[in-house]
Amino acid sequence: MRRPLVAGNWKLNGSRSANQTLMQALVGPVSGLGKVDVAVCPPFVYLEQVAGLCRDGGIALGAQDVSDQDNGAFTGEVSGDMLREMGCTCVIVGHSERRTLYGEDDAFTARKFAAARRHGLTPILCVGELLEEREAGVTESVVARQLDAVLAVEGIEALSDAVIAYEPVWAIGTGRTATPEQAQAVHAFIRARLADRDPDVARKVRILYGGSVKADNAAELFAQPDIDGGLIGGASLKASDFLAICKAAE
Ligand code: G3H
Repeated sequence: MRRPLVAGNWKLNGSRSANQTLMQALVGPVSGLGKVDVAVCPPFVYLEQVAGLCRDGGIALGAQDVSDQDNGAFTGEVSGDMLREMGCTCVIVGHSERRTLYGEDDAFTARKFAAARRHGLTPILCVGELLEEREAGVTESVVARQLDAVLAVEGIEALSDAVIAYEPVWAIGTGRTATPEQAQAVHAFIRARLADRDPDVARKVRILYGGSVKADNAAELFAQPDIDGGLIGGASLKASDFLAICKAAE
Protein backbone atom coordinates (compact mmCIF):
# COMPACT_ATOMS: atom_id res chain seq x y z
CA MET A 1 0.00 0.00 0.00
CA ARG A 2 3.00 2.33 0.37
CA ARG A 3 4.10 3.70 -2.97
CA PRO A 4 7.86 3.31 -3.36
CA LEU A 5 10.11 6.34 -3.72
CA VAL A 6 13.58 6.48 -5.22
CA ALA A 7 15.41 9.76 -4.65
CA GLY A 8 18.78 10.63 -6.16
CA ASN A 9 21.05 12.71 -3.95
CA TRP A 10 23.60 14.22 -6.29
CA LYS A 11 25.64 15.62 -3.36
CA LEU A 12 28.44 17.96 -4.51
CA ASN A 13 28.31 16.83 -8.14
CA GLY A 14 27.00 18.18 -11.40
CA SER A 15 27.48 20.90 -13.97
CA ARG A 16 25.03 22.57 -16.29
CA SER A 17 25.97 20.26 -19.14
CA ALA A 18 26.18 17.07 -17.06
CA ASN A 19 22.79 17.85 -15.48
CA GLN A 20 21.23 18.32 -18.88
CA THR A 21 22.61 15.06 -20.21
CA LEU A 22 21.51 13.14 -17.12
CA MET A 23 18.02 14.60 -16.98
CA GLN A 24 17.42 14.13 -20.69
CA ALA A 25 18.26 10.46 -20.29
CA LEU A 26 15.95 10.10 -17.27
CA VAL A 27 12.80 12.01 -18.17
CA GLY A 28 11.39 9.76 -20.90
CA PRO A 29 12.00 6.40 -19.20
CA VAL A 30 10.84 7.67 -15.78
CA SER A 31 7.57 8.93 -17.27
CA GLY A 32 6.92 5.32 -18.28
CA LEU A 33 7.25 4.04 -14.70
CA GLY A 34 3.82 3.89 -13.14
CA LYS A 35 4.42 2.38 -9.72
CA VAL A 36 7.29 4.37 -8.24
CA ASP A 37 7.85 8.01 -7.31
CA VAL A 38 11.19 9.39 -8.47
CA ALA A 39 12.97 12.51 -7.23
CA VAL A 40 16.34 14.13 -7.84
CA CYS A 41 18.16 16.42 -5.40
CA PRO A 42 20.79 18.55 -7.14
CA PRO A 43 22.96 21.20 -5.48
CA PHE A 44 21.09 24.45 -4.71
CA VAL A 45 22.56 26.40 -7.60
CA TYR A 46 21.20 23.95 -10.17
CA LEU A 47 17.67 23.67 -8.80
CA GLU A 48 16.20 26.13 -11.26
CA GLN A 49 17.93 24.48 -14.22
CA VAL A 50 16.88 21.00 -13.15
CA ALA A 51 13.32 22.17 -12.41
CA GLY A 52 13.08 23.14 -16.06
CA LEU A 53 14.42 19.75 -17.11
CA CYS A 54 12.01 17.88 -14.78
CA ARG A 55 8.95 19.54 -16.28
CA ASP A 56 6.23 17.05 -17.22
CA GLY A 57 8.67 14.18 -16.81
CA GLY A 58 7.20 12.79 -13.62
CA ILE A 59 10.38 13.52 -11.68
CA ALA A 60 10.06 15.49 -8.45
CA LEU A 61 12.65 18.04 -7.42
CA GLY A 62 14.25 18.04 -3.99
CA ALA A 63 17.02 19.95 -2.25
CA GLN A 64 19.84 18.48 -0.18
CA ASP A 65 19.39 20.76 2.81
CA VAL A 66 17.26 23.62 4.14
CA SER A 67 17.85 26.40 6.61
CA ASP A 68 16.18 26.22 9.98
CA GLN A 69 15.58 29.97 9.53
CA ASP A 70 12.99 31.65 7.32
CA ASN A 71 14.81 34.86 6.40
CA GLY A 72 17.22 37.45 7.74
CA ALA A 73 20.93 37.79 8.42
CA PHE A 74 21.97 34.17 7.97
CA THR A 75 24.78 34.22 5.42
CA GLY A 76 24.93 31.20 3.16
CA GLU A 77 21.54 29.81 4.17
CA VAL A 78 18.69 28.84 1.83
CA SER A 79 15.14 28.90 3.17
CA GLY A 80 12.26 26.56 2.59
CA ASP A 81 10.34 29.34 0.84
CA MET A 82 13.19 29.77 -1.62
CA LEU A 83 13.24 26.05 -2.30
CA ARG A 84 9.50 26.05 -2.94
CA GLU A 85 9.93 28.94 -5.31
CA MET A 86 12.54 26.93 -7.24
CA GLY A 87 10.04 24.10 -7.63
CA CYS A 88 11.14 21.76 -4.85
CA THR A 89 8.59 19.53 -3.21
CA CYS A 90 10.94 17.68 -0.88
CA VAL A 91 14.21 18.22 0.96
CA ILE A 92 16.79 15.97 2.60
CA VAL A 93 17.24 16.78 6.29
CA GLY A 94 19.95 15.49 8.61
CA HIS A 95 22.01 13.62 6.05
CA SER A 96 24.91 11.92 7.80
CA GLU A 97 27.37 14.11 5.87
CA ARG A 98 25.71 17.16 7.44
CA ARG A 99 25.81 15.50 10.83
CA THR A 100 29.34 14.14 10.77
CA LEU A 101 31.23 16.61 8.53
CA TYR A 102 29.43 19.82 9.52
CA GLY A 103 28.55 19.09 13.12
CA GLU A 104 24.78 19.29 12.75
CA ASP A 105 23.22 17.66 15.77
CA ASP A 106 19.82 16.11 16.45
CA ALA A 107 18.25 19.32 17.74
CA PHE A 108 19.42 21.34 14.74
CA THR A 109 18.16 18.63 12.39
CA ALA A 110 14.79 18.71 14.15
CA ARG A 111 14.57 22.47 13.56
CA LYS A 112 15.35 21.95 9.87
CA PHE A 113 12.69 19.26 9.71
CA ALA A 114 10.21 21.73 11.19
CA ALA A 115 11.28 24.43 8.72
CA ALA A 116 10.73 22.09 5.78
CA ARG A 117 7.20 21.32 6.90
CA ARG A 118 6.46 24.96 7.67
CA HIS A 119 7.14 25.70 4.00
CA GLY A 120 5.17 22.79 2.61
CA LEU A 121 8.17 20.64 1.72
CA THR A 122 8.27 16.91 2.41
CA PRO A 123 11.28 16.28 4.65
CA ILE A 124 13.37 13.20 3.93
CA LEU A 125 14.77 12.65 7.41
CA CYS A 126 18.04 10.71 7.39
CA VAL A 127 19.00 8.54 10.34
CA GLY A 128 21.71 5.95 10.75
CA GLU A 129 24.56 4.73 12.88
CA LEU A 130 28.34 4.98 12.54
CA LEU A 131 30.40 1.81 12.13
CA GLU A 132 31.63 1.96 15.73
CA GLU A 133 28.05 2.33 16.93
CA ARG A 134 26.96 -0.76 14.98
CA GLU A 135 29.94 -2.68 16.34
CA ALA A 136 29.09 -1.54 19.85
CA GLY A 137 25.57 -2.88 19.37
CA VAL A 138 23.88 0.50 19.80
CA THR A 139 22.36 0.90 16.32
CA GLU A 140 18.79 0.92 17.61
CA SER A 141 19.42 3.42 20.37
CA VAL A 142 21.20 5.79 17.96
CA VAL A 143 18.38 5.64 15.44
CA ALA A 144 15.81 6.01 18.23
CA ARG A 145 17.60 9.09 19.55
CA GLN A 146 17.69 10.66 16.06
CA LEU A 147 13.98 9.96 15.53
CA ASP A 148 12.94 11.06 18.99
CA ALA A 149 14.61 14.46 18.55
CA VAL A 150 12.24 15.17 15.68
CA LEU A 151 9.23 13.68 17.43
CA ALA A 152 9.91 15.84 20.49
CA VAL A 153 9.72 19.02 18.42
CA GLU A 154 7.10 18.07 15.87
CA GLY A 155 5.05 15.22 17.29
CA ILE A 156 4.18 11.94 15.61
CA GLU A 157 1.67 13.51 13.20
CA ALA A 158 4.59 15.32 11.53
CA LEU A 159 5.81 11.97 10.28
CA SER A 160 2.57 11.21 8.48
CA ASP A 161 3.62 13.28 5.47
CA ALA A 162 7.36 12.83 5.81
CA VAL A 163 9.83 10.27 4.52
CA ILE A 164 12.52 8.58 6.61
CA ALA A 165 15.80 7.38 5.10
CA TYR A 166 17.79 4.82 7.04
CA GLU A 167 21.40 5.20 5.97
CA PRO A 168 24.04 3.30 7.94
CA VAL A 169 27.01 5.65 7.74
CA TRP A 170 29.44 2.77 7.16
CA ALA A 171 27.56 1.89 3.97
CA ILE A 172 27.55 5.35 2.40
CA GLY A 173 29.85 5.68 -0.57
CA THR A 174 31.87 2.69 0.61
CA GLY A 175 30.51 -0.02 -1.64
CA ARG A 176 29.69 -1.92 1.55
CA THR A 177 25.90 -2.24 1.49
CA ALA A 178 23.92 -3.41 4.49
CA THR A 179 22.55 -6.85 3.80
CA PRO A 180 18.82 -6.88 3.09
CA GLU A 181 18.33 -8.54 6.50
CA GLN A 182 20.38 -5.90 8.34
CA ALA A 183 18.50 -3.10 6.62
CA GLN A 184 15.10 -4.71 7.14
CA ALA A 185 15.78 -5.17 10.84
CA VAL A 186 16.41 -1.45 11.35
CA HIS A 187 13.48 -0.45 9.13
CA ALA A 188 11.20 -2.71 11.14
CA PHE A 189 12.57 -1.22 14.35
CA ILE A 190 11.82 2.31 13.10
CA ARG A 191 8.29 1.37 12.08
CA ALA A 192 7.64 -0.37 15.38
CA ARG A 193 8.90 2.64 17.32
CA LEU A 194 6.54 4.91 15.40
CA ALA A 195 3.71 2.40 15.83
CA ASP A 196 4.05 2.75 19.61
CA ARG A 197 2.91 6.35 19.15
CA ASP A 198 0.55 6.00 16.19
CA PRO A 199 0.06 2.74 14.27
CA ASP A 200 -1.58 4.53 11.37
CA VAL A 201 1.35 6.87 10.82
CA ALA A 202 3.76 3.94 11.14
CA ARG A 203 1.86 1.98 8.50
CA LYS A 204 1.89 4.87 6.05
CA VAL A 205 5.34 6.40 6.45
CA ARG A 206 7.80 5.55 3.71
CA ILE A 207 11.19 4.37 4.95
CA LEU A 208 13.94 4.44 2.33
CA TYR A 209 17.25 2.63 2.53
CA GLY A 210 20.45 4.44 1.53
CA GLY A 211 24.06 3.32 1.40
CA SER A 212 25.77 1.88 -1.68
CA VAL A 213 22.50 0.96 -3.41
CA LYS A 214 23.40 -0.17 -6.92
CA ALA A 215 21.59 -1.57 -9.93
CA ASP A 216 22.57 -5.08 -8.91
CA ASN A 217 21.58 -5.01 -5.22
CA ALA A 218 18.49 -2.76 -5.33
CA ALA A 219 15.91 -5.45 -6.02
CA GLU A 220 16.78 -7.60 -3.00
CA LEU A 221 16.82 -4.56 -0.70
CA PHE A 222 13.49 -3.25 -2.03
CA ALA A 223 11.92 -6.71 -1.68
CA GLN A 224 12.09 -6.37 2.11
CA PRO A 225 8.69 -5.64 3.65
CA ASP A 226 9.65 -2.41 5.41
CA ILE A 227 11.91 -0.96 2.71
CA ASP A 228 9.92 1.45 0.57
CA GLY A 229 12.59 2.58 -1.88
CA GLY A 230 15.99 4.18 -1.70
CA LEU A 231 18.03 7.32 -1.25
CA ILE A 232 20.73 6.91 -3.86
CA GLY A 233 24.04 8.75 -3.96
CA GLY A 234 26.74 7.71 -6.43
CA ALA A 235 24.49 5.53 -8.57
CA SER A 236 22.07 8.42 -9.13
CA LEU A 237 24.65 10.18 -11.29
CA LYS A 238 24.55 7.60 -14.06
CA ALA A 239 21.22 7.44 -15.90
CA SER A 240 21.30 3.72 -16.69
CA ASP A 241 22.11 2.78 -13.08
CA PHE A 242 19.54 5.14 -11.58
CA LEU A 243 16.85 3.93 -13.97
CA ALA A 244 17.61 0.31 -13.15
CA ILE A 245 17.24 1.14 -9.44
CA CYS A 246 13.94 2.94 -10.07
CA LYS A 247 12.66 -0.07 -12.00
CA ALA A 248 13.70 -2.39 -9.19
CA ALA A 249 11.44 -0.42 -6.84
CA GLU A 250 8.32 -0.90 -8.96
O1 G3H B 1 22.13 10.17 0.17
C1 G3H B 1 22.62 9.13 -0.28
C2 G3H B 1 23.44 8.29 0.51
O2 G3H B 1 24.35 9.00 1.26
C3 G3H B 1 24.01 7.10 -0.17
O3 G3H B 1 25.14 7.40 -0.95
O4 G3H B 1 24.67 5.65 -2.63
O5 G3H B 1 26.79 6.94 -2.72
O6 G3H B 1 26.39 5.27 -0.90
P1 G3H B 1 25.80 6.24 -1.85
